[in-house]
Amino acid sequence: MEKQFWSEYKSSFFPVPLVVVSVDGKEKPNLITLGWTGVLNSEPLMVGISVRPNRYSSSFLHEQKVFGLNIPNKNLVLGTDYCGIKSGRDIDKINELNWHVFRGESLGTPLIEEFPVSAECKVTQILPLGSHELFLAEVKGVYIDKEYLNGNRIDWAKAEGLAYGSKTYFLVKEALYKQGDSLQELKK
Ligand SMILES: Cc1cc2nc3c(=O)[nH]c(=O)nc-3n(C[C@H](O)[C@H](O)[C@H](O)COP(=O)(O)O)c2cc1C
Repeated sequence: MEKQFWSEYKSSFFPVPLVVVSVDGKEKPNLITLGWTGVLNSEPLMVGISVRPNRYSSSFLHEQKVFGLNIPNKNLVLGTDYCGIKSGRDIDKINELNWHVFRGESLGTPLIEEFPVSAECKVTQILPLGSHELFLAEVKGVYIDKEYLNGNRIDWAKAEGLAYGSKTYFLVKEALYKQGDSLQELKK
């Protein structure tokens, strides 16, 4: 394969999951869409979110050291985009989108009902990385729409999750293989 040195490497260069983080704002909860995020540890279950310090949501994360992590799906793609364009400085995003808040049982963080999966997270460390600050956080409770539970797993093909890359939203819809299938399939 012929390779090209890609000078634009500073932008997103592989598909990532998207989250909508919920924080208690001055008078009401606020939402911010983030692509720089991921699960980073199993025991305890930990996530990381990277936020530019000039975001309206950043000061609330610093003050409260807790946040909600809401995982969008196909139905929520335009709302997710909107929460990444508009600022809570100017508008009440939750009200504009006609979404609804419920409170987590462990930390009391605001979470959004319309999302198939939401989690309460407690910040343990804040690391300045450059343009962004990385908030490392322990997951203290997860809430899942029952219809997307398949045994003790979330059925992402059914929930129709999202991935983000090259400034484009993609749909996670089709299960190809299960983990470990290579052991059988590559023998064929
Ligand atoms: C798809 C997408 C991904 C984004 N990822 C991040 C991110 O990882 N970190 C960040 O600080 N801002 C990110 N943003 C920008 C913020 O979501 C945006 O500036 C938002 O309006 C900030 O909201 P606030 O001012 O209410 O805090 C992203 C925006 C979009 C549309």
